[in-house]
Amino acid sequence: MEAILNVQSVKKSYRMGKILVPALREVSFDVSEGEFLTIFGPSGSGKSTLLHLIGCLDRPDAGEILIEGVNVLKLSDEKLAELRLKKIGFVFQFFNLLPRLSALRNVELPLIIAGISEREAREKAKEIVTLMGLEARMNHRPSELSGGEQQRVAMARALINNPKIVLADEPTGNLDTKTGWEIVQLMKKLNQEKKQTFIVVTHDPHIAETADRIVYLKDGLIEAVKEAPRGNSQ
Ligand SMILES: Nc1ncnc2c1ncn2[C@@H]1O[C@H](COP(=O)(O)OP(=O)(O)O)[C@@H](O)[C@H]1O
Ligand SMILES: [Mg+2]
Repeated sequence: MEAILNVQSVKKSYRMGKILVPALREVSFDVSEGEFLTIFGPSGSGKSTLLHLIGCLDRPDAGEILIEGVNVLKLSDEKLAELRLKKIGFVFQFFNLLPRLSALRNVELPLIIAGISEREAREKAKEIVTLMGLEARMNHRPSELSGGEQQRVAMARALINNPKIVLADEPTGNLDTKTGWEIVQLMKKLNQEKKQTFIVVTHDPHIAETADRIVYLKDGLIEAVKEAPRGNSQ
């Protein structure tokens, strides 16, 4: 299978006053198209930093990131924004929904930003909201929804542009075990049916093991990469 993502010798530190805090010391790995990969590690191991770099939300200090063979660090801001909008969907731990907008409006916003007409955006948003099992809740604001429902809205928003790569940063971190598991199963289903590539950050070993492959991160370094015991066949 072809690599959809190459992470090559990526390093990242944060400046805290006079000291540099290393978040990623040197990280390299590839992800195949259609793969379901989890990044597993304790708090502070650099998981969010790595996902933000892959999602082009931040830039590394050194190294290269290639998406479909394109070196994203060499793109202009405009091209980078376009790539992010078209190819990458991001799901956050704290949902990051706009509180004053309905679920449906939150979901259709990326399409409006992409310049698609209100009518077409609404149609597509309704379709994906229904796919997420939220048709009865789509006119509610985030505060009127449960955590699991809010994360489904966030997933619908991440998926509406039909991105090739979906990045999720501890998407179950603020959900109870059962709801979190449902969200994971939904991601697995999308991965299998739509062949979208998923990279999911977690510190839950059970969730990590639902993947095709697990990248173990510790202190900003990859400790191991393992084929998951259950993988896609479960
Ligand atoms: N904005 C920031 N400023 C300073 N240090 C940060 C920042 N973000 C993360 N760090 C530090 O970088 C390291 C990795 O953090 P992070 O990527 O958030 O790890 P994880 O997501 O695995 O918990 C930690 O030591 C953290 O304190
Ligand atoms: Mg994190």
